[in-house]
Amino acid sequence: MSKRYSVIKGFRDILPPESEQWRQIEEKARRLFQCFGFREVRLPILESTELFTRGIGAATDIVAKEMYTFADRKGRSISLRPEGTASLVRAYLEANLEQRGPQKLFYAGPMFRYERPQKGRYRQFYQLGVEALGWVGPAVDAEIMAMLRLLFEQLEVKKAVLEINSLGCRECRPAYREKLVAFLRGVKAELCEDSQRRVEENPLRVLDCKEEKCRALTAAAPSVLDFLCEACRAHFEGLKKYLELWETPYRVNPRIVRGLDYYMRTAFEYLAEDGLGAQNAIAAGGRYDGLVEELGGPAVPGVGFAMGLERLALLVTQPSEAEPALDYFIVYTEKQKEQALKILMFLRNKGHRVEMYMEEEPKSLKAQMKLAGKMAKETVIIADEEISRRMAKKKNMKTGEEVLVEVIFPNGDFKYEKPVWTVEG
Ligand code: HAM
Repeated sequence: MSKRYSVIKGFRDILPPESEQWRQIEEKARRLFQCFGFREVRLPILESTELFTRGIGAATDIVAKEMYTFADRKGRSISLRPEGTASLVRAYLEANLEQRGPQKLFYAGPMFRYERPQKGRYRQFYQLGVEALGWVGPAVDAEIMAMLRLLFEQLEVKKAVLEINSLGCRECRPAYREKLVAFLRGVKAELCEDSQRRVEENPLRVLDCKEEKCRALTAAAPSVLDFLCEACRAHFEGLKKYLELWETPYRVNPRIVRGLDYYMRTAFEYLAEDGLGAQNAIAAGGRYDGLVEELGGPAVPGVGFAMGLERLALLVTQPSEAEPALDYFIVYTEKQKEQALKILMFLRNKGHRVEMYMEEEPKSLKAQMKLAGKMAKETVIIADEEISRRMAKKKNMKTGEEVLVEVIFPNGDFKYEKPVWTVEG
């Protein structure tokens, strides 16, 4: 026997019926995003490594530890995208979209991070993300959070809790950072190894550490919200006002810091209260007012989020395989095989999901009926006697109910686009 191959660790195959559930989720999300004025962009999966180093930040875990980076055949450093925001801003600038005024864009597709795989955390995962570029005020921040709330309602995802925070801006964050570092130095020796390293490199992320010990040690850390400048405070108050207006419940959590350096002011996460375990962020995002400039563009503000499809799918009721995948299964006598093949194409062309047994070896009606029972909601029986009367029998496989339907072949021509299926169950 030849060798068999396995999928790479942390990667997954999405098979039916899960793939069908994903499609339904994506369709609902796309429709809703469009109702909110977002238009789709399709972005490449590979980008120059520097785009992410500059965009996301060299000291972040994503860039320092988690990127799939390699040299292409000419020795240029390229990376599989770990997220979509930096790519989207690159595309936006490359197409000079800033000249067309504010833009609302969305994207969907796989992202790659070399993280330790666990439930809800994979090395290739799918995101649906939106970015609104060119809006300064807090209304659009609240709008995308309200949009997510509506999506969760439509998908019947319960217990998704919105947590919001403000990370301040270039004006007020340095003073907070200084106070935080001073506090953290006091407890540094007792922090976990990762947090110790972060105290100087990326102190805000210490607040994000999942270790109980670190959480307890930082419980009394200064809160970013006490250091906001007037403009940031007004923005945060505005955000809350709009969330209330749109009946989008939220919780303020001053420990939300996010793992990407581009955030400024608003940061938020939708967390699943149960069903996901440790990886409980379904969607996350915030405002990144300095990023467009950082990537060589003008001072255009931005705000957005990305939602993890694997995590969302875990929270949406799984479709059951018990439900047959086909509308019809055609069963035929050997003499009527050509008729059946024509009717098969005709029905498919009309938009029905139809199958029949197509191998050369004949199969008894009974054996075909058995297949039909497994695969379809209804069986269409093409038998000698009925066809001579231009009829076919349709049988509901659940109730056993049978009806005769007329199959008309004008001019005696048996081309499959000609027959007319006159009785629709
Ligand atoms: P992020 O928090 O890194 O943000 O990822 C957003 C969401 O992607 C997470 O909340 C989670 O649902 C999903 N996700 C992240 N990593 C994994 C993983 N390893 N396995 C499965 N799902 C995962 C961003 O990516 C930002 N670009 C979001 C954003 C857009 N901010 C502004 N605009």
